[in-house]
Amino acid sequence: MSDKKRIFSGVQPSGKLTIGNYIGSIRNWKEFQETYECIYCVVDMHAVTVRQDPAELRRRTFETLALYIASGLDPEKNTLFVQSHVPQHAQLAWVLNCYTMFGELSRMTQFKDKSRKYENNINAGLFTYPVLMAADILLYNAALVPVGVDQMQHIELARDIANRFNGTYSETFVVPEGFIPKAGAKIMSLAEPEKKMSKSDLNGNASVFILDDRDTVIRKFRRAVTDSDTAVYRSPEKPGVSNLMTIYSAFTGKTDEQIVAEFDGKGYGDFKNAVGETVADGLAPVREKFDSLMADKAYLEGVMKNGAERASFIARKTLSKVYRKVGFVGQ
Ligand code: TYM
Repeated sequence: MSDKKRIFSGVQPSGKLTIGNYIGSIRNWKEFQETYECIYCVVDMHAVTVRQDPAELRRRTFETLALYIASGLDPEKNTLFVQSHVPQHAQLAWVLNCYTMFGELSRMTQFKDKSRKYENNINAGLFTYPVLMAADILLYNAALVPVGVDQMQHIELARDIANRFNGTYSETFVVPEGFIPKAGAKIMSLAEPEKKMSKSDLNGNASVFILDDRDTVIRKFRRAVTDSDTAVYRSPEKPGVSNLMTIYSAFTGKTDEQIVAEFDGKGYGDFKNAVGETVADGLAPVREKFDSLMADKAYLEGVMKNGAERASFIARKTLSKVYRKVGFVGQ
């Protein structure tokens, strides 16, 4: 095993992945693959906190893994696996449940949002979901967790749980740090720019999916909600335009000043077209690689299997240490 610091992150295969997932998270992961020991998981166990169609969940699990690879993650250099293949996640989550307070979980904003959204299915898993997420991270003693801004509260909780456990027994877990990208940590909906872009948005025009075809991407950007002004610049009064600038910048590397200069005197029409075309061009190679990966299921199964073996090796060690510390009799 290397002595590089570890990274852990994951995406739920609960819907079509958006450019929010891509910009805020997945596309940043490849930068770490040389300097850290990276572990990236398709978190299918998190996905069932909301009702899923089984066949679709299965398909999306493969798709999410394929997107990891298509976004530049080399399965030789990174451990890529599926959460339910490594049972220690659930086992550690149970123990950590007993070191997490009801009050702490009640304060999670994502729980509050999701219980409003799925008011007929406010199940216990939805409530304890951040504990499973803490288990994901702590199981691998990850030092760094690259995520979008919406996950920071869960990472704070994981830190609190780790500190509590370490304080009760002795140094057991590495206390993880969240890592959010400098720009693009929160991509907003194209239809309601005050709201986060989300996989589960019911309005198909609100989110651009990584696998949308070129025309769809361009059409969605043309329809993006802006305001009645025409000038392109960033301002709290212009959440729609500001969001488009963030997306454009993420795909071109251009600064706000460069974007303002580029569209000076041009108006929103030209700007929206440029953003749409740039995003479509940027996603084209990802989509191409994705298609070829999805045509080779056996290869993806091999990656999953190999990844689960590597992950299990670490997970087993951490879990047995935790079991020993809490006083479970070893087998
Ligand atoms: P999930 O599946 O909702 O999102 C996956 C990643 O995408 C980021 N993200 C965004 N970033 C910018 N703008 C957006 N609009 C946007 N929407 C989503 C998320 O912040 C995330 O990084 N609970 C996690 C999955 C998870 C996990 C973990 C992550 C489970 N265990 C352990 C890290 C470590 C989730 O639901 O992400």
